[in-house]
Amino acid sequence: MNPRNITLVIDADKCTGCGSCLQVCPSGTLSLIDGIAVVTGDKSLSCGHCMAVCPADAIRVNAIDNKMASFETFSMDPQWLGFGSFPTQDLARLIASRRSCRNFKKKDVEPEFLRDLIKLAVFAPSGTNSQEWTFTCLSTRPAVVNFGKTIQHFFQDLNKKAENLLLRKGLKLIGNNGLDAYYKEYYPSVKEAMDEMENQNIDRLFHGATACILIGSGPNASCPKEDAMLAAGNILLSAHTMGLGSCLIGFAVEAMKADKSIQKKLDIPGTEKIHAVIALGYPDETYLRITGRKEPMIRFK
Ligand SMILES: Cc1cc2nc3c(=O)[nH]c(=O)nc-3n(C[C@H](O)[C@H](O)[C@H](O)COP(=O)(O)O)c2cc1C
Ligand code: SF4
Repeated sequence: MNPRNITLVIDADKCTGCGSCLQVCPSGTLSLIDGIAVVTGDKSLSCGHCMAVCPADAIRVNAIDNKMASFETFSMDPQWLGFGSFPTQDLARLIASRRSCRNFKKKDVEPEFLRDLIKLAVFAPSGTNSQEWTFTCLSTRPAVVNFGKTIQHFFQDLNKKAENLLLRKGLKLIGNNGLDAYYKEYYPSVKEAMDEMENQNIDRLFHGATACILIGSGPNASCPKEDAMLAAGNILLSAHTMGLGSCLIGFAVEAMKADKSIQKKLDIPGTEKIHAVIALGYPDETYLRITGRKEPMIRFK
C-alpha cells in the first residue's frame, strides 16, 4: 500500500498558482496558500494526477517511479494522449482480435517482454491506488511444465475424492455441497483432461505455453481480485501487440486457492493471494476474421 502520509513535494519557485492540481486531486490534498500550491492533506492516493497536470512541472510524487513508464522492447511517446485522440477503431480491432491462445510454439518468451508486460499491467487502475499486486513469472517451458504437474496432481486428487460416493454424501449431509456440485459439473471433463495429460502427454492445462505470469495481491490491497483482473486485462491485450498469445488459466487459480502448498512450491509467500494465472507464448495459430459475441443483457434507465 502506498503510504498515504508521505505524498508529494511542490517546488514553490516553479509553482505559478494556476490551481490545476487542486482541480484534479481526488483526495483534497492540496490548497493554494498565498498563490502557491501547498500540501495540506494527508490522505493522498499518490495517483499522480497533479504531477501529470502541472504546467510548470513543479510537482514530484514520491511514490511514482518514472522508470516504470519506460520499456525495454519498445519506446513510448511520453506525451499524454488526449481524450478522443486515439482511434477507437484501432483499439476496437485490437480488443476484438485478442483470442485465448491454446496452441503455442516451442519458443521461449524473452524475459524483457515479460518485464514490459508487467510494466503495462501496473498502469491498470487499482482500488485506492494501492498497487498491491505481485507478479511471479515462469519464463521457461520446463518451469511451466513443473507448475502444470502440481496443478494436475491437485485435480487428480480432487477427482479421487469426488469419485467417492460416501464422501460426497457425507459432506452433503453436513451442508457442504461443493464436492457433489464439482462431481456433477466438472468431474467428467477434468477427468478426461487429466487422463490425456497423464497418458498422452498432452498439456491440457497450459496448452504448451512457454511462459506464465501469476498475478497476486499483497495483504494490504483494498480490491485484490479486481486489481489483479484489470492488470491481467492489460497483459492480454499488450501480449497480442507483441506477437504473443495468451490464455487465462482459471484451473490453476482454483487449485492454488484450495491448496496453499502449490504456492509454497513456487516460493510465493503465504501472505500473498493468487488471483490470475496467464499462460503466454508465441502463438502457433492464426485467424482469418473477427467474430462477434453473444448479445449481453443491456438496460438503459
Ligand atoms: C476467469 C477466467 C478463467 C479462464 N480459465 C481458463 C482455463 O483454465 N483454460 C482455458 O483454456 N481457458 C480459460 N479461460 C479462457 C476462456 O475460456 C475464454 O476467455 C473464453 O472462451 C472466450 O474466448 P476468448 O478469450 O478467446 O475471447 C478463462 C477465462 C477467464 C476469464
Ligand atoms: S498545477 Fe503546478 S503550477 Fe499549478 S498550482 Fe499546482 S503546483 Fe502550482
